[in-house]
Amino acid sequence: MVKTTSKWVCQQCGYESVGYLGKCPSCSAWGSFLEETTTKGNDFNSAANEFVNNDKPQLLEDIKINATFRIPTHISEFDRILGGGLAEGSLILLAGDPGIGKSTLTLQTCGQLASADKKILYVSAEESANQVKSRADRLEIKTDNIYIYPQTNMENIKTQIEELEPDFVIIDSIQAIYSNNVESTAGSVSQIRECCNILMHIAKSKNITTIVIGHVTKDGNIAGPKVLEHIVDTVIYFEGDKYKSYRLLRSMKNRFGNTSEIGIFEMQSNGLKCITNPNEIFLNERSKISIPGSAIVVTNEGTRPLIVEIQALVGSTPYSTPRRVTNGFDMSRLLQILAVLEKRVGLNLSKQDVYINVTGGININEPSADLGVALAVATCARDIVINEKTVIIGEIGLTGEIHPVNNIEKRLVEAKSSGFTSAVIPEMGKLKYNGKIKIIPVKRLIDAITACIKKGDK
Ligand code: TYD
Ligand code: MG
Repeated sequence: MVKTTSKWVCQQCGYESVGYLGKCPSCSAWGSFLEETTTKGNDFNSAANEFVNNDKPQLLEDIKINATFRIPTHISEFDRILGGGLAEGSLILLAGDPGIGKSTLTLQTCGQLASADKKILYVSAEESANQVKSRADRLEIKTDNIYIYPQTNMENIKTQIEELEPDFVIIDSIQAIYSNNVESTAGSVSQIRECCNILMHIAKSKNITTIVIGHVTKDGNIAGPKVLEHIVDTVIYFEGDKYKSYRLLRSMKNRFGNTSEIGIFEMQSNGLKCITNPNEIFLNERSKISIPGSAIVVTNEGTRPLIVEIQALVGSTPYSTPRRVTNGFDMSRLLQILAVLEKRVGLNLSKQDVYINVTGGININEPSADLGVALAVATCARDIVINEKTVIIGEIGLTGEIHPVNNIEKRLVEAKSSGFTSAVIPEMGKLKYNGKIKIIPVKRLIDAITACIKKGDK
């Protein structure tokens, strides 16, 4: 039986309502509701659930699992964040800003998989076959195993997958394909959700590993659909400044591995190259002379400590409300650090603009960079330089105390091997690290600033 239903859906967050709403009660967006009509026939009824074919509950003890079979992509940084390779039959969402390199990475992955004798169907919904071919030439991919299919209709794609029986399917991109089951335009929340459900069903029932590419909007959502994130097995974000050559892959969800790993690439004229020694590269970007407002922090991304420079610029403001601008660091965290600096250290920033920049186009999400940010701001405001061979590690609490951070030994080892000679770190009992780096333990933010002033006066 075919049933047609109509509903109003928020295009920002996927909230559904029976009638039009001016403001979304879920995400507070204004004017984001669009009417969407869904026609459900027997064929696609609960497409996502068809692979769950047990109609009775089973005893946990009786369930036999097959070990997840992983296919390595032989792109070392991609394998690192996937947990060793693409899990067979999984659905992976690769999201990022337009132009960041999603199609390049997937085509390079296809090249590697094709040389391992895997059959691949590359659905190009945005670019013509010629465009994909010229990218493949640029990446020097020559193989008989990759089929390019410029198509936007989900039902046609489904038919071709059934005929071709590939090992891998690439959808580039999910925002450009539409299903006949839904009457809204391609890219709407209902279309994206329906197409993704159909792809999930195909991936699970036929054991085809599927990579779905999704664009991210200005405000950081995978255009409209956060809704996709809970359908797919793995969500990977491509980040970085597209005007610079470094790119970061970050896994936000992974049903088959760990989520804290990052992969680092450089975009070159013939594709993305893995960066295995990121610290050397990030430190090379650093200015050679010490300048007030620069602090080196050691963040711990996954299993790898990363050494990055935080730059701060503090200057008197021409505006009635001072400006706070960050690039690569969380704004609300910066505001919290500035409040602590004002209240606990007595640094008056109410008439000062504050700009923060993390070099290398990286986003730092870890709180251990707090102390580096605070010291960069404080030393810039006071015109002091931090010793260029010192790293700064620590999380700041609201009372101005410095909280311990995890994996401190690993961070110190990395700092030492990159040529640093001293480290300002939280006071944290006995350290297992006994390498040759001078440790300056600090309990409070004011102690850290005093320690840096002493160094600055050298
Ligand atoms: P692309 O993969 O098309 O981005 P997305 O699919 O995320 O929109 O790549 C975007 C940019 O990368 C484009 O501006 C050209 C550049 N590029 C290179 O610098 N080197 C290369 O080898 C390739 C294929 C692309
Ligand atoms: Mg693309």
